[in-house]
Amino acid sequence: MKDAITKTTKWVKAQLENEGTGHDWDHIRRVTRQAEEIAEIEGADRHIVTLAALLHDLIDDKVVTSEEEGLARVNEWLAQLALPAGAQAHIIEIITTMSFKGGNNKPMSTLEGQVVQDADRLDALGAIGIARTFLYAGSKGQPMYDPAVRVRENMTAEQYRHGKSSAVHHFYEKLLKLKSLMNTNEAKRRAERRHAFMEQFLEQFYQEWG
Ligand code: ADP
Ligand code: NI
Repeated sequence: MKDAITKTTKWVKAQLENEGTGHDWDHIRRVTRQAEEIAEIEGADRHIVTLAALLHDLIDDKVVTSEEEGLARVNEWLAQLALPAGAQAHIIEIITTMSFKGGNNKPMSTLEGQVVQDADRLDALGAIGIARTFLYAGSKGQPMYDPAVRVRENMTAEQYRHGKSSAVHHFYEKLLKLKSLMNTNEAKRRAERRHAFMEQFLEQFYQEWG
């Protein structure tokens, strides 16, 4: 398994090093490290967690042309690694269930999947999460804030559907909801701090905006 992890790290890094959408190698590196730490504390299988974390964004259609193509490539990669029985299927199950898109909020069925999903979500929070959000909004030509839409946590879905999207908007759409979606206790603890920091950030942001 050690060899498989070394090889996979190199393979993923080579593909994502020049990615510009926030699905970059640094995101993978942070998620993998945090997932490994949480796995240790929660008692999850460390090898499965590491491999799934490394591979989790390679089937995203923002990174590859299609999810099917990405999945085929990852499957092919895993097949030649000669992993223990069941490992390939487990890793594939994790990375396909994990995606937050398409309205599939299917719960992760294994502890390893829960840990990787938590680590990915934690990277959307805190200082890094704030930075990624503004980077993403900038890349889509969205403003950092639209004062015409006084977005607040208690806004209904209907209300914000009519608002123009902005970086600040994304906090209410997704980021501030992630804390309560954490699977493991360790991730809940880690989310708490990052969440509080984002609330502080927003408060100061509105103050400075005037
Ligand atoms: P991941 O699954 O790795 O979290 P996403 O594709 O969901 O990746 O998002 C990448 C980054 O961009 C995250 O930090 C996310 O919060 C941010 N992001 C996603 N959608 C938006 C949006 N509409 N506006 C601003 N930031 C966004
Ligand atoms: Ni990710």
